[in-house]
Formats: sequence, C-alpha cells, structure tokens
Amino acid sequence: MSAPNHGLGLGICCRLIDEFLTLPNNHGSLTIIFTTRTSRKASETLSTLENHLAKHGTSKSDRQIYFQPENVELTNLLSVRALSRKLLASHLPYLNAIVLNAGIGGWSGLKWPSAIWSTLTDIRQATTWPTFKLGLVGLVTKPQFPEGTKAAREEPILGEVFCANTFGHYMLVHWLMPLLRACDSASPGKIIWISSVEAGARHYNPDDHQGLKSSVAYEHTKRLSDCLALSAVNQPATGSLVKEYITSSDSEEQLQPRSQESEPSFLVAHPGICTTTIISLYWIVHQGYRLGIYLARWVGSPWANVTSYLGAASISWLILASQAEIKAKAVSATGNLGGPCKWGSAVDRLGRSSVQVTDVEGWGINGTGKPFKDKWWGGQVGRKTGSVDATKEDVDNFLALGADVWRKMESLRKDWEARIEEFEAEDSHKSK
Ligand SMILES: NC(=O)c1ccc[n+]([C@@H]2O[C@H](COP(=O)([O-])OP(=O)(O)OC[C@H]3O[C@@H](n4cnc5c(N)ncnc54)[C@H](OP(=O)(O)O)[C@@H]3O)[C@@H](O)[C@H]2O)c1
Repeated sequence: MSAPNHGLGLGICCRLIDEFLTLPNNHGSLTIIFTTRTSRKASETLSTLENHLAKHGTSKSDRQIYFQPENVELTNLLSVRALSRKLLASHLPYLNAIVLNAGIGGWSGLKWPSAIWSTLTDIRQATTWPTFKLGLVGLVTKPQFPEGTKAAREEPILGEVFCANTFGHYMLVHWLMPLLRACDSASPGKIIWISSVEAGARHYNPDDHQGLKSSVAYEHTKRLSDCLALSAVNQPATGSLVKEYITSSDSEEQLQPRSQESEPSFLVAHPGICTTTIISLYWIVHQGYRLGIYLARWVGSPWANVTSYLGAASISWLILASQAEIKAKAVSATGNLGGPCKWGSAVDRLGRSSVQVTDVEGWGINGTGKPFKDKWWGGQVGRKTGSVDATKEDVDNFLALGADVWRKMESLRKDWEARIEEFEAEDSHKSK
C-alpha cells in the first residue's frame, strides 16, 4: 500500500491495522508498504505504526502485520521509476491494493472575508465545499532531468499539483502493473484513487489538462481522479485505453517474472473533511477550523470526520473488502446494480463512522442516470447546495469526458516514458 507519513495516510495505516486484526477468520499476514519523502519521516512513521500495533498486544514474534517503508517523490518521475523498479525486482509476490493518497493543495491562504461570512451563514456548506481558498496558479515541478542532458533541453513543463496528485500516481501504478496483475483472479488487485467530496464538474477544464492556468488546480485533479476511476470500468469508450494502461512493457515484466493472473479494479474513495496539514494554517486558526468542522457535524454534515482515522473508513474498507462485498454494498446503497460508486467516509452526530456512496456531478451515485432523492443523506444534507441528479444524458457526457481524460493521460504517459528511456540510454552511454 502506498501511503504517506501523516494525515490521512497515517489514519489509513492505523485503521487498516485495527480492521485487519479484527477480521473474522483472520489467519494471514498483511504487509503495509508506506511511502515518505525523507528517511527521518520514514522512521517516525514506522515507530508510530509499531506503537499503534503494540496496542493490540501482539508480540513481535507472532505478529501478522509487517511494515515496509519506501521513499518516493511523486513530482519526480525518475524517483517514481526507481521505486517501481525496486518493488518489481523484490520478492514481493503481488500487491493487493495501492492507495493513491499523497497530494498537495497548492493554496496560498484563504479569502478571509468570504471565509468568515460563509462560515457564519452556512457552516455545513462552508466547511465541506469551501469557496474561499486561494489557489496558486501555474505551479510547475522542478526539472525532471539533470541539467546539461539532451532530455533536459527538450523537457516540457509538468504541473506540480497535477503531478503530485495525479500523474505521479498514474505512472507508478502503470509501472507496478506486474505486481497488481499477479493477484489471484478471485481477488484482483485494487487501484484506489483518493478523491475529495469537493470535486465538481466545473473544476476540470479539458483545455488545461494539467490545471496550469487554474486557480482550483487541486479540485481539478480530484475531478480527474473521479473521471479516471469511474469511467474505467466496463466502458466501450475507455476499454482499449485502459487495456493499454494495464499492460506492462517487457522490461517491467522481466525484473522479476510473475504470472499475470488477473486485471486490476479501479476504485475511488474520499475521506470527507479531516483537519490535516494539507492546508497550512496558524495554530489558532487551525483550532477554529477544527471546531468549525465539529459544528458542521453537529448540524448534520455526514462528511465532517475531523480526524484522519474516521476519514480513513471508506479506504480501509475498500482495501479489505472482497469484490463481492463491494458489489453487494453498492447494490444495497443504490437500490440497483449500476456502475461503480465513489465511496465516502461518513460520520453521524455521535461520531459513529460508516462508508457511504457519494454523489458525483454528472455520474450520480452509480452512473445509471436514475434519481436518488430518497437515499441515505435524506435530501440535500450530504450534497452541495444546488446539486441535481445526473440524467442519462449527463452520464453519457461524463463517460465521453472520461474517455477524453484517459486519452490525454495515456498520451502523456507514453510521451514521458519515451523521454525517460531516452535519458536512461544517454546516461548509460555516458557512464560506459
Ligand atoms: N484532509 C482532508 O480533509 C481531505 C479531504 C479530501 C481529500 N483529501 C485527500 O487526502 C489525501 C491526503 O491528504 P491529507 O489531508 O492527509 O494531507 P497531508 O496531511 O498534507 O498529507 C499529504 C501527504 O502527501 C505527501 N506528499 C505531498 N506531496 C508529495 C509528493 N510530491 N511526493 C510524495 N509525497 C507527497 C506529504 O508528504 P510530506 O509529509 O513529505 O509533505 C504528506 O505525507 C490527499 O490526496 C487529499 O487530496 C484530504
């Protein structure tokens, strides 16, 4: 599993430990591979997880859970490549699930008058769908290739928020495909995109695929996650693109040959709202924000999780649930067998956690184009004000957008793979 060193990533690891150890008929072992950007954070995280595990009273000798820290910088494709090669060359037999959790907001602060006004007049909407974050426009990654190389001279720019939240993950998953495809066909590998309840249709602009001109680059990438995951499942418009994506190149297959047993499934989840450091706030403001989310919970917001542990509910459930359990929950939540759902971590006024389906603009709850007004959130409580049910036509448009997104992502993947190969050839030629 890929998860960073604090915030939601840590919440997912802790919850996964607790839920795995309390699974009925649990005999197997679990290895949690978590990623950080520095070795200091890796050892801090490892010791936090060891302490969390120790609360279960599991002695070191008979523990069923193992931790494997790894390092990756998602805005550096050579670092992503190095991690994938290391894991492929290892003796890991397969990867059951990869959680695409790491990410950045790319915000510089808040529009204070609007923040105060919207919080005082509608705290539930203000804390769940804030319209007062100040997004930085045009953030780009550091150069991917060392200065002076031919690859560096020809290098195009990459959007930083896009690369951290979407493209770095997208490349990592593609390169790790032999491990995901080595899962038994009864339990195929899971690719779990972490989205946000905030992602709306207006946030993604197809003419600015990397969100370079956008002041909502974060929300843009979250809408991308929704489009990628929800349009990947059994859709004629994306079928051939998804097939290409899940097919590994020979060089990846050869690092440590594994048989290809299954095709991975694409899933999407969100943590509701948790107070993490994704937005940088002064301590006192952070406490006010935390209180605001509690108040939103008490006036009925089902997404006001506050803690990362509660926010991790939908993700840990997706990791451990069988395909049949996910399908059964989707049918019971939506009333019919439709397409995939976006799974959210929800909470009630007393802080009791649950996993619930979430409305996706243009897709609805399961892409059937059927209304769902009487569902669990009781009218509009869990939806953004003004939301409407997706019609059949909206769903068709969503799928057309999904196909366009897949086309753009695949084209970008091939372009960067070619650049990396050329760079590596140049590099190995020089070092001979
Ligand atoms: N918090 C919420 O309410 C909320 C709501 C909806 C969705 N989410 C999603 O939840 C996920 C986790 O967010 P969070 O709230 O837990 O934020 P966070 O506390 O800031 O954690 C983000 C993590 O991502 C890592 N990271 C950032 N850029 C990276 C990069 N280029 N390469 C590798 N790792 C990188 C960070 O590592 P460092 O520690 O090294 O910086 C950090 O550990 C994100 O995808 C976010 O969009 C959060």
